[in-house]
Amino acid sequence: MSNLRTLGEFIVEKQNDFPAASGELSSLLSSISLAAKLVNREINKAGLVDITGAVGAENIQGEAQQKLDVFANDNFKAALEARDQVCGIASEEEDQAVSFDKEQNQNAKYVVLMDPLDGSSNIDVNVSVGTIFSIYRRISPIGSPAQEEDFLQPGTEQVASGYVIYGSSTMLVYTTGAGVHGFTYDPSIGVFCLSHENMTIPQDGFIYSINEGNYAKFPLGVKKYIKYCQVEDTETQRPYTSRYIGSLVSDFHRNLLMGGIFLYPSTRSYPKGKLRLLYECNPIAFLMEQAGGKATDGVQRIMEIKPTELHQRVPFFTGSNSMIDTLHEFIKQNPDEY
Ligand code: AHG
Ligand code: MN
Ligand code: MN
Repeated sequence: MSNLRTLGEFIVEKQNDFPAASGELSSLLSSISLAAKLVNREINKAGLVDITGAVGAENIQGEAQQKLDVFANDNFKAALEARDQVCGIASEEEDQAVSFDKEQNQNAKYVVLMDPLDGSSNIDVNVSVGTIFSIYRRISPIGSPAQEEDFLQPGTEQVASGYVIYGSSTMLVYTTGAGVHGFTYDPSIGVFCLSHENMTIPQDGFIYSINEGNYAKFPLGVKKYIKYCQVEDTETQRPYTSRYIGSLVSDFHRNLLMGGIFLYPSTRSYPKGKLRLLYECNPIAFLMEQAGGKATDGVQRIMEIKPTELHQRVPFFTGSNSMIDTLHEFIKQNPDEY
């Protein structure tokens, strides 16, 4: 008990690393943890109440919205607006970026981009889902409404990012650029407690994660890399293990702890892949780099891509350094071929 540190205590302790943040970032992260607790409560009783299933509407990307997508979006949005540290948000479930009207919000320094419920098609079958968030300092002047330019910054400008995983236990994992730290939720006392300080990914791994059902549609370099993963070679401990949950947060969390590579490539029909640059790939890339791994689109560092639109998609590869390096070799040798 004496070593027990809560998320709130830890953030305040680490605040000294960021004198410029003067408590605002701490308050912002604590509003995220509050919303996470509310979403966690709903997810835990998902089978009992009428909260699973589709709303009957689609988001701007043509995906069926689940009731919990909307619930999570509304709760995170409300929690972020209430604390006055955020001037606006962008979300997978909102067509446009939202600028908060209140004067206190317009005087705030930060914007948040989020995927309120990641892996939501898994919710009805009791498989782990998550929330992903990304925090930037605004570019537009303080005291005015948030502008599109505030949201279209490259990932290198992130002040913090993180995710919540609603799994067999619920965890919040975040970085402010000084390592990656994980907190496990103790529902009996209602707090996130430090359980994983300074998380790092092994330099090499033995797990590959990809939706292999789409194999025929992948670029040739990715196809060849998958075959490489499957070939027997005792020296490099191949064949690797294949693990794919279909919730980015869950697949990422496992690979972060155990070492591995996650791949969501382009296909001939979807040249940009499926995952969203701003609220899925950038926050995950920041965490991965802070944990000692890599995140790229197959050629370029994800965080250096200059975004052009809110719901932009990008091919995404992230994981242990040496696995990403090997993948890059295959991609380089088979450019643009399918
Ligand atoms: P979301 O539920 O936020 O739309 O995200 C789903 C994403 C991501 O979590 C996962 O990695 C990927 O979709 C799975 O896609 P496939 O079903 O095409 O494998
Ligand atoms: Mn998602
Ligand atoms: Mn989502």
